[in-house]
Amino acid sequence: MKLIVIGSGGREHSIIRKLKENPEVEVIYVLPGNAGMRDLAECVNIKATDIEGITEFARTHEIDYAVVTPDDPLALGAVDALNAVGIPCFGPKKNAAIIEASKSFAKDLMRRYGIPTASYEVFSEMEAALAYIDTCPIPVVIKADGLALGKGVVIAKTREEARNAVCSMMQDKAFGDAGSTVVIEEFLEGPEVSVLSFTDGRTLVPMVSSMDHKRAMDNDEGANTGGMGTIAPNPFYTPEIAEECMNTIFLPTIRAMAAEGREFRGCLYFSLMLTKDGPKVIEYNCRFGDPETQVVLPLLKSDLLTIMKETTDGTLKPEDVVFADGAACCVIMASQGYPGKYEKGYPIHVEESVKDRIIYAGAALKDGELVTNGGRVLGVIGLGNTLKEAIQDAYQNTEKVSFANAFFRRDIGKKAL
Ligand code: AMP
Ligand code: GLY
Repeated sequence: MKLIVIGSGGREHSIIRKLKENPEVEVIYVLPGNAGMRDLAECVNIKATDIEGITEFARTHEIDYAVVTPDDPLALGAVDALNAVGIPCFGPKKNAAIIEASKSFAKDLMRRYGIPTASYEVFSEMEAALAYIDTCPIPVVIKADGLALGKGVVIAKTREEARNAVCSMMQDKAFGDAGSTVVIEEFLEGPEVSVLSFTDGRTLVPMVSSMDHKRAMDNDEGANTGGMGTIAPNPFYTPEIAEECMNTIFLPTIRAMAAEGREFRGCLYFSLMLTKDGPKVIEYNCRFGDPETQVVLPLLKSDLLTIMKETTDGTLKPEDVVFADGAACCVIMASQGYPGKYEKGYPIHVEESVKDRIIYAGAALKDGELVTNGGRVLGVIGLGNTLKEAIQDAYQNTEKVSFANAFFRRDIGKKAL
């Protein structure tokens, strides 16, 4: 079989590594990919948002199956476009990807179908949003409605901060059109859990739970990033909570989407907060998480391609999704300065013994040598029977990796122990 994978980050590298375990896979093209994946896949210089370029490539290369993972091509309708030229695809169609692409859509869906989430109001007029902020409880959370690279969320501890956030999104257009509508919502407290799931629109099978670390510095300080590390499983997510989430959140969500004529197939990712009033949805993502995927897939014992095709065909079987009992940890090594300005182009050194534990997010080839080419450069994976072992393993492995200007958090998973 010939596959294409759309995207370029660590999530895609993890997916490709797992897909390659299937002996029927002859070749994987990754559009555009990064040089760190070149042993497993052929990188093709077509952007993930170039929907026409992607479909043209897939058609002319007689691709058998496509995997679309980043949010923007999904929101742009990459799956619909590939289906239209006869290529089956992993991922939701555009009308279902809206569950991530519009926060107000997601919030209204949850309100209408009684799915627990923070209470909220939606505003498309700045005056009304500012008036609301004069009286609402503080802290309060301000969210740009559209896709904003994970940066469109402000937790305001004062009214002043809340007003500034609204002005920056609605007046100064800090996130472009994504912020012309804002969601203002109740501030929730409790441990956060990421649960990715496979679904064919009717059956939903959760993957092992995980925990992201979004802030740049230890102790959850510093700026918000795309994620500085993950662990799986998440110990706050007990079997009792898992059952409650299945009944009050997961199944109601896919049923709601189906009832709206927006059947969701692919990976539906639930970002949850375990509040004292029970689990609540922080947000939905219409795709695998990054870097959650880097810890979830190493624990998947089953064949990924088989599961993906079942979600596409509407034949998902829970018994085909089996996870190992162990634990995994991913420590992201980033370029000094990320998520702000950083330098790139520095050679990456990885000892042979840990080669299989490295997931590349931002690497390029320069004179035949792998060099840094992004804020998040790579993820170092640790595995173990317990979380403690997995975390230790990951940090030991980081000692076998070096590049100039590298930094990483020293406390990934600490909260979980
Ligand atoms: P999001 O991009 O929606 O996942 O939000 C980014 C982060 O902001 C989340 O991981 C939470 O830590 C935090 N956050 C989002 N919504 C809320 C909320 N209603 N209450 C408290 N924290 C929130
Ligand atoms: N790890 C957060 C995300 O993928 O959105």
